[in-house]
Amino acid sequence: CRVRHYKFNVVTRNTTRLCSSKPIVTVNGRFPGPTLYAREDDNVLIKVVNHVKYNVTIHWHGIRQLRTGWHDGPAYITQCPIQPGQTYTYNFTITGQRGTLLWHAHILWLRATIHGGIVILPKRGVPYPFPKPEKEIVVILGEWWKSDTEAVINQAMQSGLAPNVSDAHTINGHPGPLSPCSSKQGGLKLQVESGKKYMLRIINAALNEELFFKVAGHNLTVVEVDATYTKPFTTDTLLITPGQTTNAILTADRRAGQYLIAASPFMDSPITVDNATATATVHYSGTLSTSATTLTKPPPQNATSIANKFINSLRSLNSKKYPAQVPLKMDHNLLFTVGLGVNPCSTCVNGSRVVAAINNVSFVMPTYSLLQAHYFNKSGVFTTDFPGNPPISFNYSGNPPGTSPANMNTMNGTRLYRLNYNATVQLVLQDTGIIAPENHPVHLHGFNFFQVGRGLGNFSPKNDSKKFNLRDPVERNTIGVPSGGWVAIRFRADNPGVWFLHCHLEVHTTWGLKMAFVVDNGKGPNESLIPPPSDLPTC
Ligand code: C2O
Repeated sequence: CRVRHYKFNVVTRNTTRLCSSKPIVTVNGRFPGPTLYAREDDNVLIKVVNHVKYNVTIHWHGIRQLRTGWHDGPAYITQCPIQPGQTYTYNFTITGQRGTLLWHAHILWLRATIHGGIVILPKRGVPYPFPKPEKEIVVILGEWWKSDTEAVINQAMQSGLAPNVSDAHTINGHPGPLSPCSSKQGGLKLQVESGKKYMLRIINAALNEELFFKVAGHNLTVVEVDATYTKPFTTDTLLITPGQTTNAILTADRRAGQYLIAASPFMDSPITVDNATATATVHYSGTLSTSATTLTKPPPQNATSIANKFINSLRSLNSKKYPAQVPLKMDHNLLFTVGLGVNPCSTCVNGSRVVAAINNVSFVMPTYSLLQAHYFNKSGVFTTDFPGNPPISFNYSGNPPGTSPANMNTMNGTRLYRLNYNATVQLVLQDTGIIAPENHPVHLHGFNFFQVGRGLGNFSPKNDSKKFNLRDPVERNTIGVPSGGWVAIRFRADNPGVWFLHCHLEVHTTWGLKMAFVVDNGKGPNESLIPPPSDLPTC
């Protein structure tokens, strides 16, 4: 293994999309930012220098950060922000992971333009558990706003209303060739040769959109998600939520031609935006670039059956070499309701504001880092009384909007849930339909978990747990809680520190759909959090 050094200069750069230019905050002037390459077991050091007017932090989404929570990145959770003019070096070792992940800013809405890919290759000499592709391509899905994203969310928070949606989806930073404002350059043009295989490392870095992904005239074979190998399966459509990653093999089994790649939104209340479908092209060598492109029809935005079919096909590889180590005996059985509600707000447009909560607690961001408060025993920053179950039970998924429960007002608090080192946790995430049922891609920092169950309606401990898959459930770090339904996940708390859990739709995070686990040190020699680095930013 080796040490890899990267330098991330956070700088403003004037960028043109959709026929207009605006200054955006970037890493090294690029949108999307640079890809990090490393092998399993490598030590990665990224020196981040903040040259902009905003506070900044970077999160290495899905990297386990075993005992190195100081380098995880979420602002005020594991560190104070890197202030303008300041520098911080993230330093972590990649342990037991290989595949594709992403990095992104983890403060305000800066993630909109500060993000990029992480490629983790297997250890030298260790092959993939599938035939080696001819080439690997990083494909980053994102969103583009014509206006300033910080202004978009600030305005929403003042009014209490939902923020504006983006003006375009993007593939590798561009709306693509079908956009009326396409620059004709930039974006992804995948050059292939007939008969060869290509691995797409697809990342959903969008702020607020779950996305379908298709290639005209071609199937895709999924081999890995969230940097864990899966049983290969072939599909014509992928579904990727914000924060998720998928490695899929494209076999160039056509003789020639050009084929459209399409990334289109999946959500329950369809939005109509021009540029809703981001596009790119697969180009077979020997084909004239002026030849017609074979198009593909994106799934409708409410294509729940296509989404479910994809999700239900995911299984962990569970081979001898890569066994699925699903915890079987549970120390904690938790049920978290995730959903939206409304709270009174005298200064808001409607006299109320949209909030989001877990078990009716809307999380209040502290002004000091939780991990520092935990490590130095500083009181008054957080409490450890986060409820492991909903305060009241009601028909979570079934209520027509506005009918129940009687008290829809959420509590506010910086409440954490405490776990002993190595405790096993089963967590059922249950969507509520208090305002409207919605999908919630929930991300847990510091761990991978197994998705042992998933269903619609209210979770029934008695009936549903009998059907859990404890043999080869998919292992990941971000999971889509279905609208009006639930997922059950299991993990082992083998990583001491403070670990954020939140909806990866940035608007829901902002509204409070977040909480954190605090995992105490173990007693063994390698079971404690390392001491804080000397350059850790202060608040
Ligand atoms: Cu990718 Cu806490 O986020």
